[in-house]
Amino acid sequence: MNIEIDTKIKKIENVKENNLKKFYIESYGCQMNFADSEVVASIISKEGYDSTTNLNDADLILLNTCSIREKAEITVRKRLESFNKLKRNNNNLKVGVLGCMAERLKSKFLDEEKIVDLVVGPDAYKDIPNLLNEINDGSNAVNVLLSKEETYGDISPVRLASNGVTAFVSITRGCDNMCTFCVVPFTRGRERSRDPKSILTEIKNLEESNYKEVTLLGQNVDSYLWYGGGLKKDFSKANNLQKKTSINFAKLLKIVAENFPKLRIRFSTSNPQDMSLDVITTMASYSNICNYIHLPVQSGSDVVLKAMNRQHTRNEYLSLIKNIKKLIPDCGISHDMITGFPNETQQDHKDTLSLMNAVKYNFGYMFKYSERPGTYAAKKFDDNIDESVKKMRLQEIIDLQQTHSKLRNQEYLGKIVEVLIEKESKKSVNHWAGRNQQNTVVVFPKKNHELGDFVQVKINDCTSATLIGESIS
Ligand code: 5AD
Ligand code: SF4
Repeated sequence: MNIEIDTKIKKIENVKENNLKKFYIESYGCQMNFADSEVVASIISKEGYDSTTNLNDADLILLNTCSIREKAEITVRKRLESFNKLKRNNNNLKVGVLGCMAERLKSKFLDEEKIVDLVVGPDAYKDIPNLLNEINDGSNAVNVLLSKEETYGDISPVRLASNGVTAFVSITRGCDNMCTFCVVPFTRGRERSRDPKSILTEIKNLEESNYKEVTLLGQNVDSYLWYGGGLKKDFSKANNLQKKTSINFAKLLKIVAENFPKLRIRFSTSNPQDMSLDVITTMASYSNICNYIHLPVQSGSDVVLKAMNRQHTRNEYLSLIKNIKKLIPDCGISHDMITGFPNETQQDHKDTLSLMNAVKYNFGYMFKYSERPGTYAAKKFDDNIDESVKKMRLQEIIDLQQTHSKLRNQEYLGKIVEVLIEKESKKSVNHWAGRNQQNTVVVFPKKNHELGDFVQVKINDCTSATLIGESIS
């Protein structure tokens, strides 16, 4: 049969007596996965599927998975088990695994988890229509091919579970950094940047739909580089015109800030060795770029940083922080930290605590080292820090961070901050919740304000996690 006609028939089959087939998608892990799920939703919607938030209504359940730590994978496996009953009750129900676990485990997933019908890696989502045809015909289907070019720049994401106010826009995919502990370069492949035109179109659509804030996303946004396509490392091969008209992250930020003066602009994640002074001065020059940088460091010890293959020393990191604070004194800074990396000594741990004391981060994300199969660290180092020591060190850095967060939040007492209202407070129907520029959550009485409003809020109280205030506008 002609492929086109065959596909059309399949699409019609997906529309059951005026009822669209339904897909349910759940995302785990990083913001990029949540953004990817919106790309997947767009692709599947075009195949005659409607999205549902009710598992029991679904004909297709998709889990967009994370491999960053073992715990993340265990969570997904438990979730898959919970679908057994649903599948027993509905012979037609299909289950698919997307994202990093799909890429890491490939077709092994089908053997290990009998419940899974479909396995799709992060660069293969455009193949989902074909794969759906295969599984609806009763076979299993797998596509885990990684790509050097795919950015999904031509796909308009369908916003899922959106508050209608804030949205993610991906600008790069993959990572070339090869930190020794990290599975991402293996699961998300080579780093590539998205065409700025498609980034601007996506943001324009968001603005026209009344969104108020965009977060530019990438594993390493500071290494964004567009010169007409291809990998960043091929830049040496680019011709002079391409080089002259190339767009790096600082330029991209400037273009976005100038084109969308009414939107709040955020970005994540920054990599210390790639963050240029240009990016910081651009942030300082545009009031709509939020004064907030998520700047993972992973350890305060030079020995550990080297073993992690982080391309910066403790001092280089600290001078970057100094430059940020010089140019943007009220910049909020957060971190990622790993504790219990192979061979981490008590002195290394103390170095981490002292780095935290030197920076006094606004907040941070802290993790016990989790050995990931296939990484350099897994191959070359022994995971030799006792679980009890890892646990103790983690608790110490969490406690210290809490002290610093409280301290940072106390600096706002009596001050007025601009807050974008994002949702109702979880604790009270009478309060709104939003964030200030520095990415700290602020709650305040609703009064007559609406979702999506920018509001001036005077801060009267705080916890280590939240600022509490009252609107004055
Ligand atoms: N073990 C623990 N934490 C990890 N991260 C990445 N890989 C690992 C691992 N193997 C953390 C890093 C990274 C964040 C996204 O997850 O801190 O910045
Ligand atoms: Fe992983 Fe390092 Fe790349 Fe971040 S920068 S995704 S930690 S390899």
